[in-house]
Amino acid sequence: MPPKVALITGASRGVGAAVARALAAEGDTSIMLNYGSNPEPAQSLIRDLNSSRDNNTQSTGSPQFQALKADMADRADIRRLVNQTVQEMGRLDIVASNVGWTRMTDFTNLDEADDEADWDRCFNMNVKSHFFLFQECRPHLEKTQGAFIATASVAGVKPSGSSLPYAVTKAALIHLAKSLAAIAAPNIRVNTVSPGVLLTDWGQQFPEERLNAVREKNVLKRFATPEDVAEQVKFLANSKSITGMNVVIDAGFSL
Ligand SMILES: NC(=O)c1ccc[n+]([C@@H]2O[C@H](COP(=O)([O-])OP(=O)(O)OC[C@H]3O[C@@H](n4cnc5c(N)ncnc54)[C@H](OP(=O)(O)O)[C@@H]3O)[C@@H](O)[C@H]2O)c1
Repeated sequence: MPPKVALITGASRGVGAAVARALAAEGDTSIMLNYGSNPEPAQSLIRDLNSSRDNNTQSTGSPQFQALKADMADRADIRRLVNQTVQEMGRLDIVASNVGWTRMTDFTNLDEADDEADWDRCFNMNVKSHFFLFQECRPHLEKTQGAFIATASVAGVKPSGSSLPYAVTKAALIHLAKSLAAIAAPNIRVNTVSPGVLLTDWGQQFPEERLNAVREKNVLKRFATPEDVAEQVKFLANSKSITGMNVVIDAGFSL
């Protein structure tokens, strides 16, 4: 069996980097790590993954890790990312479509939500870009009976979060994934993960009092972690019998 190949967008930090670590731990997966602008965190992650792989005596294949800059807002970049992944790694089995965008506002303030540029950017980044990535990956995932997993948000399930356009477009992403799951079956499985607040660089943009309020509201009195999310992505990538599902990982925020 040749090594599996995973493509992770927004993989240099936060959730994407945790997904890379979780998939790399499987031992038989080559990974293309996409980032948007800063190569250094992706290169440093590759050094870490290579050194863990060297220490892993269970490893049987010769999987590789590479990083590629591509702007998920740009269709030509999305196409180049997928083509280069398949050219260099030979196939595509798992896609973690993880990039998202928001501008933090007060969710309850409709005047702050009344910004057309925010709506357009949220729709482009949180919905259309995932669909375009799926389209580019589709022929490759059909060949491998692969899996496509998008990162949505609990904001797309329970009205809440960093902005109204963000919450609404994450809800649209969950519906997009369910629709794609129905359309692309039986060959491709499509699911979403919906994290609550995570203390990534992104989550740490919330003011401290808001973070404290969220932890208090979470019935588990903790924050979910990028590693918790990554384990769900890995599970959905491996399960042959789950499609069209949205897994909420929110420490009980939405209860
Ligand atoms: N953190 C939370 O509290 C939370 C909660 C729910 C859902 N989510 C969702 O989880 C996903 C990941 O969030 P995170 O917290 O891990 O974010 P993060 O820590 O800010 O990491 C962002 C990653 O995305 C890359 N990126 C940003 N814009 C890009 C673009 N246009 N094209 C390609 N790559 C781009 C960044 O690369 P560069 O640095 O090189 O640009 C980086 O690798 C998002 O979809 C977000 O909506 C996050």
